[in-house]
Amino acid sequence: MAKLEGIQACVFDAYGTLFDVGSPVRGLTAEIGEKADELARLWRQKQLEYAWLRSLMGVHADFWHVTGDALDYALEQLGIDDPGLKDELMVLYLKLEAYADVKAALTEIRAKGKRTGILSNGSPSMLDAAVRAAGLEKLLDHVISIEDVGIYKPSRRVYRSALHHLKLHDAPAVCFVSGNSWDVQAAAQFGFQAVKVERNPGIDDRIPGKPAARIKSLAELPGLL
Ligand code: 2OP
Repeated sequence: MAKLEGIQACVFDAYGTLFDVGSPVRGLTAEIGEKADELARLWRQKQLEYAWLRSLMGVHADFWHVTGDALDYALEQLGIDDPGLKDELMVLYLKLEAYADVKAALTEIRAKGKRTGILSNGSPSMLDAAVRAAGLEKLLDHVISIEDVGIYKPSRRVYRSALHHLKLHDAPAVCFVSGNSWDVQAAAQFGFQAVKVERNPGIDDRIPGKPAARIKSLAELPGLL
C-alpha cells in the first residue's frame, strides 16, 4: 500500500475506532436477553442520528446527554422494561473496551515521531473516562472534543478545529483514522489524509470523500506513515 507522505499527527475517532461501543451491551447480554444485538444496534444508530439532528436544529446537548436519550429511545422502542438497566449501560459506556490493536499502534506511531490524538463527538469527561479506563492517557498527545465547537462531526468546523488544536496549517499533515465510514469520508473531503479501519464489514456511504487508505487493523497503520 502506498505510504502517506508528510504526516505530522495521527488523529483517531474514538467510538467505533479506538473503543468498542458494543462492549456495554455485550457485558450485560444475559440480563438483556434475545434483544441484546438489536439494542446495541439501535442505541448506536440513534446516538449518531440525535447528534446530527441536534447539529442541524442548532440545539446542542453534549454527547453524554445524547447517548442517554438514544438509549431511552432504544429501550422503549424494543419494549425492554428493566429498571436500572439504563444506568448500568451508561456506567459501562464510561469504560468501554479498547480494541486489542490500539495500544501497540499508538506506541509505534509515537516511536515514528508523529503526534497522536483523538477527535471525537464525545464530551471531554466521557473521553477522559474512556481513555483512563483503557490506560491510553500516556499514549495520546491530544484529546479533542467537539464541545469547544458546539456542533458534531461531520461538520467541517470540527475538523478545522482539530487543525487549530494541533497548531497545524495544512490539512494533509493530519492522518485521520476512523472505523465509521461517514466520519472517514467527511474527513477526507475536508482534506485530511483519511484512513478507514475496517472494524465492521461494510461499503462506503454515498457521500463525498474517499479514504486515502483502508486497513483491516490498526497494526497496519504505522507502516503507512
Ligand atoms: C466519535 O467518536 C461518534 O464515533 C464518533 O466521534
